[in-house]
Amino acid sequence: MASILPIVLHPDERLRRVTSKIELVRIASDELQLLCDTMVATMYADDGIGLAAPQVGFDGRLIVIGKNALNGQKSDLIIFNPELSSYSLNTTFDEEGCLSVPGILGEVERHVSVTLSGVNRNGTSISLTLTDFAARVAQHECDHLNGVLFIDRARAIHPSQQRGKL
Ligand code: CO
Repeated sequence: MASILPIVLHPDERLRRVTSKIELVRIASDELQLLCDTMVATMYADDGIGLAAPQVGFDGRLIVIGKNALNGQKSDLIIFNPELSSYSLNTTFDEEGCLSVPGILGEVERHVSVTLSGVNRNGTSISLTLTDFAARVAQHECDHLNGVLFIDRARAIHPSQQRGKL
């Protein structure tokens, strides 16, 4: 049974590490399979739509993106060692927040589309092109793996009662 972990909050230094790549042979381990379930459960418990492993204190390259961010996808996306490529030239600003930075929103420029590649929880390589909000979430979560927070990129940062979901 997956538990729910507390979200690591800014300015905790664990949010500022460049996280380690995960060895593919470890993906099938009970530890990492449970971590997948725990991250998904934690994301939903906090009304989030994306979560990166450093946000639950795990030093490893793993992100989850909720299916509601993914047009037409029937299940949540769980990706080990995610890589972004094929960034669109087009960019867009939109309001963004983060589960780890409560009480603040800001406008962040992101590429409109990106290709997200990596390995799913079954150890299978996957690659998909994401656009708009899904692309934004992927860029935000991959930033977390490199110790980058949206507040590093945002303009017009402002306090908000609304909780960030990424
Ligand atoms: Co975040």
